[in-house]
Amino acid sequence: MTDDRTPSASSATAPDGFPPSPGGHDPEVLRRRALDALLTARARTTALTDSVNEAELTAQHSPLMSPLVWDLAHIGNQEEQWLLRAVGGREALRPEIDGLYDAFEHPRAARPSLPLLAPAEARTYASDVRGRALDILEAAPLHEGGRPLERAGFAFGMIAQHEQQHDETMLITHQLRSGPVALTAPAPPEPTDAASLPAEVLIPGGPFTMGTSAEPWALDNERPAHQREVAAFHLDTAPVTCGAYRRFMADGGYTDPRWWAPEGWDMVREHGLEAPLFWHRDGGQWLRRRFGVTEPVPDDEPVLHVSWYEADAYARWAGRRLPTEAEWEKAARHDPATGRSLRYPWGDTDPTPEQANLGQRHLRPARAGAYAAGRAPSGAGQLIGDVWEWTSSDFLPYPGFVAFPYREYSEVFFGPGHKVLRGGSFAVDQVACRGTFRNWDLPVRRQIFSGFRTARDA
Ligand code: AVJ
Ligand code: FE
Repeated sequence: MTDDRTPSASSATAPDGFPPSPGGHDPEVLRRRALDALLTARARTTALTDSVNEAELTAQHSPLMSPLVWDLAHIGNQEEQWLLRAVGGREALRPEIDGLYDAFEHPRAARPSLPLLAPAEARTYASDVRGRALDILEAAPLHEGGRPLERAGFAFGMIAQHEQQHDETMLITHQLRSGPVALTAPAPPEPTDAASLPAEVLIPGGPFTMGTSAEPWALDNERPAHQREVAAFHLDTAPVTCGAYRRFMADGGYTDPRWWAPEGWDMVREHGLEAPLFWHRDGGQWLRRRFGVTEPVPDDEPVLHVSWYEADAYARWAGRRLPTEAEWEKAARHDPATGRSLRYPWGDTDPTPEQANLGQRHLRPARAGAYAAGRAPSGAGQLIGDVWEWTSSDFLPYPGFVAFPYREYSEVFFGPGHKVLRGGSFAVDQVACRGTFRNWDLPVRRQIFSGFRTARDA
């Protein structure tokens, strides 16, 4: 993988908006990767939709979420629009359904009352699209001089990421549903050296390269690579745990407006918040519901299902703050030994199961201090996988941003309304998670697989 050491050269953007892909992107390797990524995504989608019955597929489990059958046909419809029509030049298979599956036309709460494809139809549609998409992938010229959508297999990688993002959304729906257990998975690996880890690590001040112009399937908002100056700071070695969060709760965290942003305090009062989502008190102990199972809250696991406001309040109570997005990325990618930015905390190689908790392999975060093999040069761990980490930053474009291939992926969400989350959760696949990957959501959101870590100035 070409590094991002020379931002001035690599940030040059082609007039079409897609940065020139650097050498080393063998079209046949990328074709193979695209095929793998599409097959991996479909296996996940199938597991998430075959594990519940028809009634559950069409039900709305929460007004915050679509029925699962909407996600399924929307996955197929996006694939049809980008791979069959835009890349393949094919006619629409079912032009009449485009509007139903346009996320901007119908808010989630309205989706159950639409004349959606029934489960069997949605499955057939998604697999018809997929069969044709694989034919197109086989013949597509993925070389550097090709059309921007095809170059380096971008559209195929984008569609695999899109499906995996909806697989994470569908897992959120699974977590919100009630009824018998539908999904199970083995526990994640235990930490091996947690007792000897420092509470925080020091990230020295200085410039680093943020974002990428080299990663072939990086989405528009991750581009281009550019220099950022980041002053020295301390960062938690691991995400904040449930046990630490309970100390905040026990110290009156939810009853003291001192710790809360004004809108956060409004939310606490309006909804009577007193704990993360899915927690409840049973006598003297806190329990949580996780994919249909009720269990004691584990003290040493990263806290999950907190809003940005809760993360921000905790940090203030602790005498600390959330890291900025640039601080997070520097801690995750900057290698002081070479001065360059890595693809991942551990280096440039794709994640292994020993390095990060990704891909719904485990249906929970690993305990704080796990994944020693995945640590960054700074010593910070679990930056990739486990829980999405709230940062203090608004979701904004990088200097030189160009929307590609559609404004509705990122551009329409830029602004102070959305906060950036980094690093990915146990629910996201590696194809949609890397050191540069940016997620965003409203600061009130807590059904997502969100946690956080804290920072302080050095
Ligand atoms: C980047 C996760 C915020 O799920 O709303 C899916 C991804 N965009 N379909 C979302 C997305 C279009 C997006 N997030
Ligand atoms: Fe989508």
